[in-house]
This record gives sequence, structure tokens and C-alpha cells, in this order.
Amino acid sequence: MTAPANKRAAWLEGPSANCPTPPELARPWRLILLGAPGVGKGTQANLLRERLGACHLSTGDVFRAAGKRDGCAPSPAMAAALGFMRRGELVPDSTVWEMVRERSQCLHCRSGFILDGFPRTLMQAESLKKLMDEEKLPLDAVVNYELPMEEIVERLSGRRTCENCKAVYHATRQPSKTAAVCDRCGRRLVLRDDDRPESVIVRMETYERSTAPLIEFYRNLGLLLSVMATGSPNEIYARTSAALETNAPQSGQRDSG
Ligand code: AP5
Repeated sequence: MTAPANKRAAWLEGPSANCPTPPELARPWRLILLGAPGVGKGTQANLLRERLGACHLSTGDVFRAAGKRDGCAPSPAMAAALGFMRRGELVPDSTVWEMVRERSQCLHCRSGFILDGFPRTLMQAESLKKLMDEEKLPLDAVVNYELPMEEIVERLSGRRTCENCKAVYHATRQPSKTAAVCDRCGRRLVLRDDDRPESVIVRMETYERSTAPLIEFYRNLGLLLSVMATGSPNEIYARTSAALETNAPQSGQRDSG
């Protein structure tokens, strides 16, 4: 069954925005997706959201939404964050953590959550662990997607994103029905600023230096599930789902993350 798209208002716009009350699920999953830029985390988060009902919480989406908000200029910290993003660098930990902490209610969402693009540094991972421990929120698993570099570059260079609803396509592998037009909302599909080749190189180097060490961090906590990200999105989803069902502890017996 497919869950209706949750507009994620409280996540994208901040705690003053209200989400409609999400359905209570028998098993609310709390997951983190790890993996290099372009490996397909957003695509899988969308499938996991549709099929498990959990809310998709992407820090990149919060920054992009702030940059596009009509009629109100981004705050100085947000304007600086957008500059880091365009260059392919990480936004400073202090800015990211302030933004996540402000939205910490989303971690209590009764539908569960899928964190995508956060945490990305050891500092972020440690801060998240402390917060979740304090708030007695158990993490089910951290899914680490693995893919050879040539395939990642191919996925990023073909990515097209809807300028309005942020739906993600690929120019040749997951094309929209009408070229350059979003199937969902009919608006234009665009190349993301940070998918330009010079930014992609910086993003890959930054990933290796700052984010790859989190694999060991979560392995040591017994939460890591590695999944090969080759094949179609549905094949990868099937692998993810099988890994979760086999390896993630059952509800009520979970350790905190
Ligand atoms: P963010 O938005 O998190 O981007 P990212 O991690 O670089 O990941 P991407 O969105 O590029 O890729 P993805 O893995 O989601 O792949 P997708 O599903 O789109 O972050 C952007 C920036 O924000 C960062 O660089 C940083 O500046 C800042 N930022 C965000 N969070 C931060 C944090 N916590 N700390 C500091 N800074 C932060 O797929 C890619 C393409 O492949 C698509 O075209 C898709 O259609 C296609 N595709 C997907 N799956 C398949 C498949 N199986 N087969 C063929 N094609 C596929």
C-alpha cells in the first residue's frame, strides 16, 4: 500500500508550521540513510516513505526550501549555508545542528522518520545520539548504500529535480513522461546547482573525509546495514526491506541509537 505524500511542513518550514496528524502505525520505523552523494538515498527514502509510512526528513531539502521561499529573504546563517551547498561543501555543524534541534519534534513523529543527509559528521552523529538517548527514542537501523563511483557520477550528472515539488528524475533512467516537465505537478525540471561537475568533485571528497567515518560509528553501535545500490530503485528497495526485516530488532526490543 502507498502512503499519501506528507507535506513535511514542520520539517521544511520549521516548528511554527503544523503537519496534519499522521496515522499511528503498528510499527513506526526510525531510520538513517547513509551513502555518498547521488547513491540514491532520496529515491529510496521516497519508496520507504510510501511503503513504511515514515516521514522523509532531508536536511538538504530544508536548505533548498529556505532558499526558494517566496517573499522572505533567507536569514544570514541560511544564506551562508546556501553558499556552502552551491560549492559542494558541508554546511557548518553549528548551523545544521541548530536547524535539526529546532525541529526535534519531527523525531517524535508517530509515523516514524527516515533521516536522509543527516548526520554527516561525527559531531552531528554524536549530538543526535545524545538527543535520542535523552528523549528515549530508539533508532531501528542505519542503512548504508554502496555503489561504484562511476555509477554515482552517472546518476548525478543525469539527475533532474522539480523546481516546485522536488520530485527527482533521471534524464535517461527515470525520465518524466514529458521531457523536462514534472509528472507530479507539471512544473519545470532543473539541474541542481550542486550537480555541476566542479561541485560534484568537492562533494565526493567531502563525503570521503567527513561522512564515511560514520559507517564505523554506526557499525560499532550494532545498527549498520549495508545494502548494494545497484539495479533499479525497486530492486534496491527490496534489498533494503529484506535487510530491515531480517536484521533490525523487533519493536519493543530495540536499543537506543
Ligand atoms: P543533500 O540534499 O543531502 O544531497 P546529497 O547527500 O549530496 O545526496 P543527493 O541528494 O545528491 O543524492 P541522493 O543519494 O539522495 O540520490 P538521489 O536519490 O537524488 O545535500 C546537499 C548539500 O546540502 C550538501 O552538499 C551540503 O552542502 C548540505 N547539507 C545537507 N545536509 C547537511 C548536513 N547534515 N551537514 C552539512 N551539510 C549538509 O539519486 C540521484 C540520481 O540518480 C537521480 O537522478 C535518480 O533519479 C537517480 N537514481 C536513483 N536511484 C537510481 C537507480 N537505482 N538506478 C538509476 N538511477 C537512479
